[in-house]
Amino acid sequence: MSEKEHQVSRRQFLNYTLTGVGGFMAAGMLMPMVRFALDPVLRPVAKQDMVAVAQVKDITNEPQRFNFKVHQVDAWHESEEPKSAWVYKTKKGEIVALSPVCKHLGCTVNWNGDKKNPNRFYCPCHGGMYEKDGTNVPKTPPIHPLDVFKQKVEKGTLYLGKAEPRGGA
Ligand code: FES
Repeated sequence: MSEKEHQVSRRQFLNYTLTGVGGFMAAGMLMPMVRFALDPVLRPVAKQDMVAVAQVKDITNEPQRFNFKVHQVDAWHESEEPKSAWVYKTKKGEIVALSPVCKHLGCTVNWNGDKKNPNRFYCPCHGGMYEKDGTNVPKTPPIHPLDVFKQKVEKGTLYLGKAEPRGGA
């Protein structure tokens, strides 16, 4: 190669310089936008906090429905999600908190919802039934028991977390 071919003309120098500076500035402007767009997706999912739901003294042996709200962060969207739980005390005094969501197709179950089947949870959508402890009644549509809420009691208040399938499955 000749000496002349290695030389950079003024025009080429300007082109390289402007391209480099332009690229640097574009990257500087785009990076915060990309980071802002991806941040919620890349952030680790926060565990659902326990929410105060009821006073232990108000919980009876008969299941009662307690409504509460859970703060949810879903990528870019934050909301207060309404939830409810069927809560009762066993004869031994243990607190049971069941999800009202039917395990068949997701309708809401009601305690004593069917007069012909007292002391059971009843799902009006397709006649699904569950025993008081949430066990699904055979020969009705649901094939799994109701989910159970994680719970803790502090200073006389019942806190509920996430509802999970029995056995954590
Ligand atoms: S949704 Fe409950 S029985 Fe079908």
